[in-house]
Amino acid sequence: MRALVSCTTSPHAELADVPDPHPDRNQALVEVKAFSLNRGETKRLASMEPGSVTGWDVAGIVREAAADGSGPPQGARVVGLVRLGAWAELAAVSTDVLAELPDEVSLERAATLPVAGLTALRALEVGGFVLGKRVLVTGVSAGLGIETARALAAHGAQVVGAVRDLAKAERATNEVRAQAANGGGFELVELDLASLRSVRACADALVAAGRPFDVVIANAV
Ligand SMILES: NC(=O)c1ccc[n+]([C@@H]2O[C@H](COP(=O)([O-])OP(=O)(O)OC[C@H]3O[C@@H](n4cnc5c(N)ncnc54)[C@H](OP(=O)(O)O)[C@@H]3O)[C@@H](O)[C@H]2O)c1
Repeated sequence: MRALVSCTTSPHAELADVPDPHPDRNQALVEVKAFSLNRGETKRLASMEPGSVTGWDVAGIVREAAADGSGPPQGARVVGLVRLGAWAELAAVSTDVLAELPDEVSLERAATLPVAGLTALRALEVGGFVLGKRVLVTGVSAGLGIETARALAAHGAQVVGAVRDLAKAERATNEVRAQAANGGGFELVELDLASLRSVRACADALVAAGRPFDVVIANAV
């Protein structure tokens, strides 16, 4: 099968032919239709053994159900999580981390759910009840930040997203705004954490607004 494997030169990923995975008895063999890129796996590419298959989030179709009878049947649309191997045409996925998808969830959207979606959900579980709370989230222009802001807004929070590139963030947060329309709130403020001048200007503007935050999520890296 073909897969994206690690290599020594930037961007540290290249297409290659690699052996098909051999599923264990509790694993389904999934034809991968979509996967997502997470910060953790992309950062690790440069230090991986060249030729290694990586990738965590996988969405696709079950080609072979697990031999032990667990999990979704052949032909099911699924989303799942692997330790390594999602950036490939085929992935062996343990059925305890593999779920069948409702028809209305596309494979592309589903592929963002395991790592980014579950991490954002966990943050909300830890943060508790957010209805009406004012929440500052840094880095809402990508990855976890978008998903966290979207989930907060959907649960009625008043979200302020701090970003270093307002134009990019405006484009990236359409869905957050759509969720906020159902009762939450969403606005953007400019904040480049690498610039003390920007941090000061943002802090001054937020203090001047006179509305304290209930929760601050320092997500940007
Ligand atoms: N995704 C995961 O696998 C995962 C799992 C658990 C925890 N985490 C943690 O969650 C956090 C976010 O991860 P992610 O995967 O969502 O990362 P990401 O997709 O790379 O997003 C990083 C965000 O930080 C922003 N940012 C970077 N430098 C900034 C700066 N100087 N000032 C302001 N904003 C800045 C980026 O803005 P631009 O769009 O302008 O670049 C972007 O919005 C990280 O702390 C990560 O370690 C990630």
